[in-house]
Amino acid sequence: MDRTASFNSSPSIPEADPLPPRICVLPGVYRPQQDTRLIASVLAATSLSAGSRVLDFCTGSGALAMVAVRSGAAHVTAVDTSARAVAAAWINARLRGLPIRVRRGGLVAAAEAGPFDLVVSNPPYVPGPEGALSGPAGHSARWDAGRDGRAVLEPLCAAAAELLRPGGSLLVVHSHVCGVSRTLSRLRGGGLDAAVVARSRVPFGPVMRRRSAYLQTHGYCRPGQDWEELVVIRACKPA
Ligand SMILES: C[S@@+](CC[C@H](N)C(=O)[O-])C[C@H]1O[C@@H](n2cnc3c(N)ncnc32)[C@H](O)[C@@H]1O
Repeated sequence: MDRTASFNSSPSIPEADPLPPRICVLPGVYRPQQDTRLIASVLAATSLSAGSRVLDFCTGSGALAMVAVRSGAAHVTAVDTSARAVAAAWINARLRGLPIRVRRGGLVAAAEAGPFDLVVSNPPYVPGPEGALSGPAGHSARWDAGRDGRAVLEPLCAAAAELLRPGGSLLVVHSHVCGVSRTLSRLRGGGLDAAVVARSRVPFGPVMRRRSAYLQTHGYCRPGQDWEELVVIRACKPA
């Protein structure tokens, strides 16, 4: 487990909400939370060159795709495996008249639409017991990501270089509990220049609180720990 995190660096979640107001969230769709806001604040501060093509992988409600359009992206593709998420992202884009292409699928659908100048992603990353991915009560593909929380992160790291144009970059957010140094080393192993660019220590929300016994038993957090550190990693493909 990665415990190298420090807590006083910036930027962290800003005072001003980087997300558009009144995002429609259908039942079963991830409601934008602190992780969404942290990566959205980095995205909003990222300068996009004219004609930029952006992918929001694991788009949920389409929140990050909308921030990408607001930040000047010319072409935005939003991808998610959930039919409800795809519907919510489509509704949010249409209600605002934003040119976002929404596709249902995973990395294959994303790669077909690429390559991209920027890939943003807030994937599921909560570690959980065997079966959590198949969706018994209390589990959800919105956040569950296998025993070590890396079921979506690992393939994303492996595909990142292929998804990006030369000179392009990936922004990905996750909790420290599923291994910041693992993500950095996977991305570097794929030839990308990767670093943590934002972090924020937050109290456990309802999902992490429910999962805390599992997290403690498997060494993902200390006994009694009731907080996690969210990190945003930027990984750049050489030009
Ligand atoms: C934590 S939510 C993030 C939603 C949104 N990006 C946000 O930040 O508010 C993760 C999303 O990933 C989707 N998802 C799960 N596994 C996926 C996969 N293999 N490929 C694409 N999307 C996936 C889920 O349906 C869910 O909408």
